[in-house]
Amino acid sequence: MGNCLDSSSAQVDTTLSSRASGTSKNGSKSSFSGPSSLTISSHSGMSSAESLQTPRSEGEILLSPSVKPFSFMELKNATRNFRPDSLLGEGGFGCVFKGWIDEFTLTASKPGSGMVIAVKKLKPEGFQGHKEWLTEVKYLGQLRHPNLVKLIGYCSEGDSRLLVYEFMPKGSLENHLFRRGPQPLPWATRLKVAIGAARGLAFLHDAKEQVIYRDFKASNILLDAEFNAKLSDFGLAKAGPTGDKTHVSTQVMGTQGYAAPEYIATGRLTAKSDVYSFGVVLLELLSGRRALDKQKIGIEQDLVEWAKPYLGDKRKLFRIMDTKLEGQYPQKGTYTAATLASQCLSVEPKARPRMSEVLISLEELQAPKSASRDHHIVSSPIRRSPMRQQRRSPMNRSPLASPLPHHRQSPRVK
Ligand SMILES: Nc1ncnc2c1ncn2[C@@H]1O[C@H](COP(=O)(O)OP(=O)(O)OP(=O)(O)O)[C@@H](O)[C@H]1O
Ligand SMILES: [Mg+2]
Repeated sequence: MGNCLDSSSAQVDTTLSSRASGTSKNGSKSSFSGPSSLTISSHSGMSSAESLQTPRSEGEILLSPSVKPFSFMELKNATRNFRPDSLLGEGGFGCVFKGWIDEFTLTASKPGSGMVIAVKKLKPEGFQGHKEWLTEVKYLGQLRHPNLVKLIGYCSEGDSRLLVYEFMPKGSLENHLFRRGPQPLPWATRLKVAIGAARGLAFLHDAKEQVIYRDFKASNILLDAEFNAKLSDFGLAKAGPTGDKTHVSTQVMGTQGYAAPEYIATGRLTAKSDVYSFGVVLLELLSGRRALDKQKIGIEQDLVEWAKPYLGDKRKLFRIMDTKLEGQYPQKGTYTAATLASQCLSVEPKARPRMSEVLISLEELQAPKSASRDHHIVSSPIRRSPMRQQRRSPMNRSPLASPLPHHRQSPRVK
């Protein structure tokens, strides 16, 4: 697990360079620079809940009453000195450890007693790492929704930057879809996960001050004990355009294979970039294949390119369906989901549905209003006008987690 187990505090120095160069170490996903090093003027800002849009100083962000500042020693104790057997996984930004704290005082407690937490210990990587750490505190510290992972606190001491989250017992969607160990997820669970994740994104997009998530991917969808999905990792989140602006101009960041083509090409970010990434994850749920898989040959490396021709053909769809499902899925339901994925993946961002529309389509698949509708193939799952008025998405339920070791893959666009 990379450098996760060096208990003398995170001393990994490769993150930024591996991100920047696209290196992927040892099956571990690293962040990396995408198809081009396109850098358009950086445009930062905040949005959502109370005053996410208002620029706030670092001190103000960290003073948020909803997140607790932890000392390094407290988190060291809570994770039993970041012990190897506490390791939950490793990402491009650092390692995640399981820990325990008292649920009332939030101080370290004995392993097995109190509340379980996940502690992300960032690799020291200078300004960019700190910036993303702060962005995460800024957003997750204020946004609360059943489909967003809860940030309990943070630690900033010397060079150490840590984040403390609620523990998600089933780990990430990536682990369940692509690792050999766990039981394959049945179709109904995949649909449930897609709905939970869509609710999280719809909440961000429809917030008073829109938030664009920018890093929607299977590894950032965490699962509680009942497979309710929660979005994690808000380090790349960005305030949506305001006023009469149609987009936000940014440095291109995200993860290759998931990032929308027009965003990679121009740096122009809109909520529709997230919708594209959602389409990629929907394809991953249908096919059980990774967005980008260098182990495969030719066109099969790129899931979107490979799968697109099959999505609109109900007789051919089975060719891209996950064989681990062993044919146990509703043909019409998966065809509708495939059509929806295809719409999300439209090259033209305006042709993509809004997340609130995607959510309603998926909810209808899960609980059709009538049995006859359930068995009817819907050629276009998006019903535009009535859905557009449904701005806020209904809420979902709650949390908890599992220590599936992580392996990474998709390089990060940066
Ligand atoms: N709150 C949590 N509860 C339980 N496990 C978690 C939690 N957060 C992260 N993990 C585990 O740690 C792994 C690493 O997460 P992390 O966000 O650092 O990396 P990633 O999402 O795989 O990659 P990236 O750095 O590109 O976001 C996850 O895949 C998951 O298995
Ligand atoms: Mg992540």
